[in-house]
Amino acid sequence: MQRLTNKQIILGITGGIAAYKSAELTRLLKGAGADVRVVMTPSATEFITPLTLQALSGNPVHLHLLDADAEAGMGHIELAKWADLVLIAPASANFMARLASGHGDDLLTTLCLATEAPICLAPAMNQAMWRDSGTQDNVNLLKSRDVTLFGPGSGEQACGDTGPGRMLEPEQIAMLSAEQFESGSLSGKTVFITAGPTREPLDPVRYISNHSSGKMGYALAEAAVEAGAKVKLISGPVNLPAPARMERISVESAEDMLTASLQDLNLCDIFIAAAAVADYRPTAVSEHKIKKGTEEIMELHLVKNPDIVATVATHPSNPFTVGFAAETRDVLEYARGKLDRKKLDLIIANDVSRSDIGFNSDENAVTIVSKTTAESLPQASKRQLATRLIARIAEQYNAEK
Ligand code: PMT
Repeated sequence: MQRLTNKQIILGITGGIAAYKSAELTRLLKGAGADVRVVMTPSATEFITPLTLQALSGNPVHLHLLDADAEAGMGHIELAKWADLVLIAPASANFMARLASGHGDDLLTTLCLATEAPICLAPAMNQAMWRDSGTQDNVNLLKSRDVTLFGPGSGEQACGDTGPGRMLEPEQIAMLSAEQFESGSLSGKTVFITAGPTREPLDPVRYISNHSSGKMGYALAEAAVEAGAKVKLISGPVNLPAPARMERISVESAEDMLTASLQDLNLCDIFIAAAAVADYRPTAVSEHKIKKGTEEIMELHLVKNPDIVATVATHPSNPFTVGFAAETRDVLEYARGKLDRKKLDLIIANDVSRSDIGFNSDENAVTIVSKTTAESLPQASKRQLATRLIARIAEQYNAEK
């Protein structure tokens, strides 16, 4: 079930008594970390209310093909593109016939025509309807088009008959849905990542900060999502859009970043600190803009900020903790010192004396330092580097667990 983390699933519900089980299925898919959008045919709404599915999925339920409001939100083509998997449970005999003959006369059939995601059906119908040669022809046609069928099961039916045609139980359907996805190196794991700079205010219009663009941290967050992790990205002020499939928490100062990092830390498996946190902040923040005086020199009084990554690493519910070391000289030596002092599991040493890598550039080159090893990763785009870093972090995490 861990493979469902971050996956985007359209759950299509067609008319049949088994539709009541779709509520539990929605709950299970959500619980396994999937984002679920429910699409109901008109007859499905006779068996279970859209409101129930909306409450369980946490998303609006899609009902009509030609609905101006829905199209203004997430239109049917956008929805078809959004899906990693289209799961139809229950799939009635009528729906399967319409799908087999390529109909596009309602929202659900149109989505099936438009999507490039795999389509899986959990048939549910009376045993005689399932055995009918028309249905069986449709089953064979759908299978020949790479539509996957989950079940049906066999047994006692709502109408009193016994035989094949029962929809599989929600647990089985959720499990089979998970098997449609490959397992990533961080499947089911929760990763917190800090990114970008912090801003330490002096007055309402001025602050102390640095040149971090957030690109490295955001690339790591995307790579972690691709590896199957649930990601909380704690971001300082940057000019990057919120990446998909993760929670982004925007913060300003080091103290804000610490608060966001400690929130739900007990749920965090791996913490990666890529942010360039200001080591000091002004002792006092002026309520009004500081006026230019007559003196030539102005003194600022600064106080040490909390060390976020060290606080996390020594917290009672400490996750596997990875820091970065941004250095302009003696890079490895200083990185090893930080690894030890901050009680980290790994540190990524980053030479920031060069203008073509490090702060605010699209590329980076780093050395992964553990207590006993140092492995250099040559210059590459931050995105490529992030994939390699996440693979290496996952390997070490899994080895030490
Ligand atoms: O954002 P980009 O433009 O893409 O640039 C990427 C980067 C150069 C910022 C990134 O790769 C990087 O090196 N980040 C760490 C920057 C830094 O602040 O390093 P440091 O050596 O000062 O700090 C060591 C570690 O302690 C870091 O993991 C840092 O996040 C953490 N720290 C530092 C101070 C503090 N008060 N709290 C912290 O958690």
